[in-house]
Amino acid sequence: MADGQRKRILSGVQPSGKLHLGNYFGAIQQHIALQDQGEAFYFIADYHALTTLGDAVRADAELAKDQKRKARTAPDVLRENVRDVALDYLALGLDPKKATFYRQSDVPEVTELAWILSTVTGMGLLERAHSYKDKVSQGISPSVGLFTYPVLMAADILIVRSHEVPVGKDQVQHLEMTRDMAGYFNGTYGEVFPEPRERLGEAAVVPGTDGRKMSKSYGNTIEIFAEGKPLKRSVMGIVTDSTPPEAAKDPEPRTPYQLYKLFATPEEVADLAARYRAGGMGDGTAKQMLLEKIDQSFAPSRERRKQLAADPDYVEDVLRDGARRARAEAVKTMELVREAVGILKQPV
Ligand code: ADP
Ligand code: TRP
Repeated sequence: MADGQRKRILSGVQPSGKLHLGNYFGAIQQHIALQDQGEAFYFIADYHALTTLGDAVRADAELAKDQKRKARTAPDVLRENVRDVALDYLALGLDPKKATFYRQSDVPEVTELAWILSTVTGMGLLERAHSYKDKVSQGISPSVGLFTYPVLMAADILIVRSHEVPVGKDQVQHLEMTRDMAGYFNGTYGEVFPEPRERLGEAAVVPGTDGRKMSKSYGNTIEIFAEGKPLKRSVMGIVTDSTPPEAAKDPEPRTPYQLYKLFATPEEVADLAARYRAGGMGDGTAKQMLLEKIDQSFAPSRERRKQLAADPDYVEDVLRDGARRARAEAVKTMELVREAVGILKQPV
């Protein structure tokens, strides 16, 4: 990084459903904190979400049956998911004056760069991607877009020549691949890209209600903006073993305790741990304590979200303004890339 240049931070979030505590503690919390520590770019990865939009539409159709409403069409699902994620981030504290917040598809230079990167990327590199291999082993028949997902992600990161990418642990391999692609490009055409580094949050893996990693695809999430009965249902539904309340227990492996730790002060955590160890503390009580913490912590954001949602133009204005700022950087990068590769400057 040149002297005096502010560190550039970038991250993306897929608009593929309701955000949950795993997303919050693994990613969003540090995105918001980092907007004060550098020049931050955050975007909604709608082109990435197209690789799994079919699943989202099918999930909506299932839900529609239960709720006795009409199923939504694919474009409606995508548009609503984008808007939801934007509202979530803004309500949780993303400040569009500090961070550049945009929709990936509003910056077309990203897909242009993705093509150029794909020409310096070996098939072997993409074939080794865990997330791709996992999806194939689940029996999904992959599209070309799913296969080249990491190339588009590298383009997202490199288009603004980012230095740091705050993500959860599951994205580390994608960052390694991005560095490889930046290296192949620089090796072939000369230094254009810095090598971006991942930055992991405190809670590398947040457990879900069944004790596995919290994830939309496992149906074990606690949603950030859930309230009332649905919130209570997810928290009380946390799976625990049947050790009786009287028994002394090691708190560490217990999901209610692990989640409580994310919200409570060190004194409160030590207190709960001591009560588990002493015996007489059941998981039901711990879940109740957790429920209160979740409810209180997100209450101000829930209020803010309701206010923001009441102004339909606001979100769109924020994203448009963010896209203008992001594009200004993207155009500069593409000038360097085109020059390096030997492609003429774009006529205007
Ligand atoms: P999901 O697994 O629900 O589909 P995503 O893959 O869309 O979630 O993840 C979005 C971001 O949130 C990523 O940066 C990811 O690393 C982080 N994340 C998701 N689930 C967790 C979790 N259980 N613990 C920590 N971070 C998580
Ligand atoms: N793949 C990321 C996820 O599933 C989302 C993403 C797309 C991203 N492009 C990115 C994250 C660029 C960081 C940087 O969570």
